[in-house]
Parts: sequence; structure tokens; C-alpha cells
Amino acid sequence: MKAYRGEVFDLPPDKSISHRAALIAAVADGETEITNFSGGFDNQSTLGVLRDCGIGVTQETVRSPQGHVRRTVVVRSGGLWSLTKPGKELMCNNSGSTMRMFAGILAAQPFESAMVGDGSLMKRPMRRVADPLRLMGAEVSLSPEGTAPVVIRGTKALRPISYELPVPSAQVKSLVAFAALHAEGESRIVESLPSRNHTELMLGLDVEELPDGRRAVIVPGRKAVPARPFCIPADPSAACFMIALGLLCPGSEVFLRDVCLNPTRAGYIDLLVDAGADIGIENLRSEGGEKIGDLLVRHSPSISPLRIGDPATVANIIDEIPMLAVLSACATGEFELHNAPELRTKESDRISAVAGNLGRFGFLCEEFADGFSVSGRGAIAPQNVVVESFHDHRIAMSFAIAGRALGLEPEISGSEVIGVSFPNFFDIIGNLEV
Ligand code: S3P
Repeated sequence: MKAYRGEVFDLPPDKSISHRAALIAAVADGETEITNFSGGFDNQSTLGVLRDCGIGVTQETVRSPQGHVRRTVVVRSGGLWSLTKPGKELMCNNSGSTMRMFAGILAAQPFESAMVGDGSLMKRPMRRVADPLRLMGAEVSLSPEGTAPVVIRGTKALRPISYELPVPSAQVKSLVAFAALHAEGESRIVESLPSRNHTELMLGLDVEELPDGRRAVIVPGRKAVPARPFCIPADPSAACFMIALGLLCPGSEVFLRDVCLNPTRAGYIDLLVDAGADIGIENLRSEGGEKIGDLLVRHSPSISPLRIGDPATVANIIDEIPMLAVLSACATGEFELHNAPELRTKESDRISAVAGNLGRFGFLCEEFADGFSVSGRGAIAPQNVVVESFHDHRIAMSFAIAGRALGLEPEISGSEVIGVSFPNFFDIIGNLEV
């Protein structure tokens, strides 16, 4: 088995923050410069739909003094109502964040538009998008199954809303916030489980802690959004794959630079450290409202099995669960997950995708409606291991790491989907390999 050692300067820029920076720029008054924007397909889909709605977007790659390529995006907009009716359907490809969050902005525009996506996105639930926007006064139509195409007839006269999120979803919270920016008065969005809070931080929104422990995000209506520059830190959800590689492979030591450590995203690091993982945080600082730090990860031979079930923890680590499950299975032969039904609504059904692929590696898995467990490993013929990506970037990457951790070289069908969030995934692994 190989070891992985070295410093990583070029993890992908955070996908969630990149989407929000571009969308906020589209409703801001003036020119927004976004440094270190992600080249992942999902973030490029967001730039594409903005261009199709008449927003000026330019993008150039710049080489840093250390030789690393960085992408700078400049977005020009005239404020809240600067979009124009697109001449065609808006193609969101694989990106749920693009479709859902952009819906909030389209709901406020005085024209009709339609958003579509690839085969995976066309199956994902969109009633959670339509419901609050209809309450605010937009007309939204979906397929009979509650999926895309999402057709929106927006209105400049959106009503403010007091909305309790029915599912813990930062995408839904953000789309309601984007719509509410345009509404005729103050809106409140209440969440019972904290989800990632980048939108609130980037828009400078007030957040009230309610006596019962829930949080309310307050959005003032019709308030001009001033254009301001953004600089995107590295994606903690991408860092998770390199952390798993370092922890699992004997002799490894990996140093990851400038990772976003926002507490609504970085819960998985605490979970791993509590389980015995050797992960050090260095140079912790705050930039643009986000916590950022460097991570030193060393091979950790005695990690204990991960058992996850607390709903707040699940919401915090939702995107890292595939990798954590695979990591726990590879390190200990065991894993357990409950209270995670949302995982079935991601780019793939991540409960059956992870359990099914672990089964191909010989792990003994049991699926539940809201999770699954792993309890040991039987014999397999290693040369026959073929894993299925299910067109899901996080599934493909989790099992590419599993292959390295188990000393197998599985064939991963459709691994090009990794470009959705981490185009240089195999380059970084190749550079670390010793
Ligand atoms: C995201 C929120 C999460 C997450 C997704 C990105 C975001 O989705 O899974 O990858 O940027 O707001 P939900 O809002 O559906 O929980």
C-alpha cells in the first residue's frame, strides 16, 4: 500500500461559498470581484445561468507567485432587479444548489423562466423550493412528481414571509433569503437544526437565537446589496477526502492549506478527532466572517468506529457522510448511521450507493430507511471490484479513497463526475503519492 505525504495548496475553492458569492454578486449594485472561484462544474453552472439572464460575468485564471492557478471572476450587476428574461431554458446540469438558490432570485423577476438539469438533478425534490416561493406570491410549476423542470413566473411584488424550514436545508434557507431580499417588508426564516450559514454571513443578516434553541434569520426587504469583493477559502467537504487518505494509509502525513473551518461545516473534524484521528489545526484565523485554518493530518492506526445518529450532527456533516462511512468501514470494519433520510435525496441515493459499493468490497451492510450499518467484512475477489459512481461526485471520490486504503484498484464507473466539485482530485493524490 502506498503512503501519501506533502502539502496541498490547491484544494478546490469552497463550492457552497462560490455559488453564494456569484448569486449575491448578481443582485448587488456594482462590480464584484471574486478571488479563487471554483472551477468545478457545479459552480460553472451557476455562472452559466447568470450569463443566460443577462448578468455580465468574466472569468480569468491567474498564476499565483507560488505557481498555483487561481480563478478570478468579475460579476457586473445593477442591483436587485437586473436580470433579463433568458432566451432558453436555464441548464443547471448536476447542480442542485444552482437550481434551488437561483429560484429565489428568479421568483422576484418580472418574467417567466424554466430551469432544467441532468438526469440526476431532474429527479431531485423541488417542492421544498416551490412551497415558500408560492407563499411569497410567485407562480411556480413542477412536474407531477414535484421535480424539475422548475418553471417560475416571478413578480416584483413578492410578499415578505415568516417561514419555518420543513427540512434542515441551507439551500432552502438561502433561496428564501434571496427572494426575501426583494420583498416588500421584513422576512423571518426559522430553522430548528443549524445548517451551513454562509448566506447569512455573506449578506450580513441578523440571526436571533430563539428561547427554544431554534434560530431565526432576519431578512430586511428591498435593501440594496452593496457590491463587495469575496475571496473563497478551500472546501472542507473536498478536504475530507484528503483527510481520509492521510488517516487511512500507513506512513502518510498531509498538510492542507487555507481550509474553511466554519463550525456549521467542520463538525466532521471534531467527530474524527474524538474517534482518535490525528488531525491538528494550525494558523486558525477569521477572514470575511469565515474561520479558516491549515490542517495537519497523520496516519491514525487506532480510529474507533463512527456511530452517527444525532440529527444536529447529521445536518452538520451531511456532505461528508459517504467518506466518513467508508473511512470508518475501512479503518474498523464497522459503521452506523441513523436519522439521515435526506441522504437519499442527494446527487444519488447516498444510503444505497454507499452501502451497495461497500458490499462490493466485501463489507457486510444493512440498510434502513434513514441510514445503514456496516458490521464486518467477508472475503472478495479483489480483481473483480467494480464500483458504481451513480453519477455522484462524492460517491466516486469516497470509493477512489477506499481503493487506495484497501490496496485495491477498483474500476469506478463514471468517475469523470468528480469534476463537479474537485477537478484536480487525482492530480493532488498523484502529487502526494510516495
Ligand atoms: C448546500 C447544502 C446542502 C448540501 C449541498 C450544498 C449548500 O444541501 O448537501 O451539497 O450549499 O447550501 P441541502 O440544503 O439540501 O441540505
